[in-house]
Amino acid sequence: MKQTAAPKTYRVKSFGCQMNVYDGERMGEMLQQEGIAEAAEGEDADLVVLNTCHIREKAAEKVYSDIGRLTKGKTQKKAPMIAVAGCVAQAEGEEIMARSPAVSMVVGPQAYHRLPAMIDNAVSGKRSTDTDMPADAKFSALPQRRKSAPSAFLTIQEGCDKFCTYCVVPYTRGAEISRPYAALVDEAKMLVEAGAKEITLLGQNVSAWTGEDDRGRSLGMAGLIRAIAAIPDLARIRYTTSHPADMDDALIETHGEISKLMPYLHLPVQSGNNRILKAMNRSHTAESYLKLLQRFRAVRPDLALSGDFIVGFPGETDAEFEDTLAIVDEVRYSQAYSFKYSPRPGTPAATMDDQVPLEVMDERLQRLQASLRRDQQAFNDASIGKTCEVLVERKGKREGQWLGKSPWLQSVHFTGDVAIGDLVTAELIQAGQQSLGGRLISP
Ligand code: SAH
Ligand code: SF4
Ligand code: F3S
Repeated sequence: MKQTAAPKTYRVKSFGCQMNVYDGERMGEMLQQEGIAEAAEGEDADLVVLNTCHIREKAAEKVYSDIGRLTKGKTQKKAPMIAVAGCVAQAEGEEIMARSPAVSMVVGPQAYHRLPAMIDNAVSGKRSTDTDMPADAKFSALPQRRKSAPSAFLTIQEGCDKFCTYCVVPYTRGAEISRPYAALVDEAKMLVEAGAKEITLLGQNVSAWTGEDDRGRSLGMAGLIRAIAAIPDLARIRYTTSHPADMDDALIETHGEISKLMPYLHLPVQSGNNRILKAMNRSHTAESYLKLLQRFRAVRPDLALSGDFIVGFPGETDAEFEDTLAIVDEVRYSQAYSFKYSPRPGTPAATMDDQVPLEVMDERLQRLQASLRRDQQAFNDASIGKTCEVLVERKGKREGQWLGKSPWLQSVHFTGDVAIGDLVTAELIQAGQQSLGGRLISP
């Protein structure tokens, strides 16, 4: 590579889950600390960080098409310095370096605190790759939080030891680690001082978080939620994503006792069929999952439920897919994510027999999504007439319109004299499938 000028502006493009978005924000903060400013919208950036996702084939392919567009001048007038970060970087670092000479650096999700040094390398004409996984090192190397949207993300746990047979996360994010209690309470306080009213605690297996409080007593998620709920100006707490195996009694009780903990739970089941769940290496059955939900609903009857589903896992028969529709009918999710199975290199399921044809997956996905849309509409319809708090997050498309979130994570639009970050009271008066209309009652 040729020597080049040090970048003055950057853009981070995040493609993945919320933790990937959190990482993208932290990389931005770090670049700003290095004196590199965020490029204004519509303007060329000197450095583009592609913060990639490897979860499904389509997500992983995006990085190559993006590199192509950036180098051919399709996204910017001038080709920028390119950094590939995130889970594709972790999984295919060497391949990217070999395939894309325009890429100056490849940095895995646990190593991005080393970006500044890698940028220096690039300036002097050297390409670099760093996909080490030093547990927790990046967090302590990152700058303090100074700016926050009303709703902020806080990664408390990373990695996964569950090894579902379809999934790349245990390989791209490494083993489960929990960030220390004190660092999390500090970061939460800083986010609140910086303007956050709501914090969403993040982890690939967020409920697997464990730690010790100031007095050395061991704590789980429930204890951490209670500590964060004690921050006076914080109004709302959420967490995502949980695995059914990590939901303990203390966490369930917290949903009944801590009013700042919002009545919403994202708890992926993946399939409603026990043979498929076993082949996926999920540790729950359809029955144990439903029982668990009952316990949550017993302490918090208005709990909104969300989940993830995979259709067309290898060997899934029509009858086994029907079991997924049946569990959806039973749970009545307020919203959910559903995907066609995507074989991922290096995972056990990718080489299983009886891969399901694409047409069959397409048809199953359509049927599943029709059920999920029906339930989302029904959940929203049932909200009409409720009065609730809405956290104002941004301006709406129309003049005078605002958008915010209800406690059940529904998008609510309304008009009135409010500001971003306000927690207002609104009556829900109209329901679509994706959002609700509200009438402002009091600021
Ligand atoms: N840790 C979380 C979510 C991880 S990834 C959990 O266990 O629930 C988010 C979702 O992507 C998964 O819940 C799953 O539904 C989906 N997913 C993961 N690997 C996939 C694959 N190979 N093909 C299709 N969907 C997949
Ligand atoms: Fe992937 Fe399963 Fe781990 Fe979730 S629990 S990240 S689906 S391996
Ligand atoms: Fe994607 Fe990595 Fe998240 S693969 S879903 S960005 S953990």
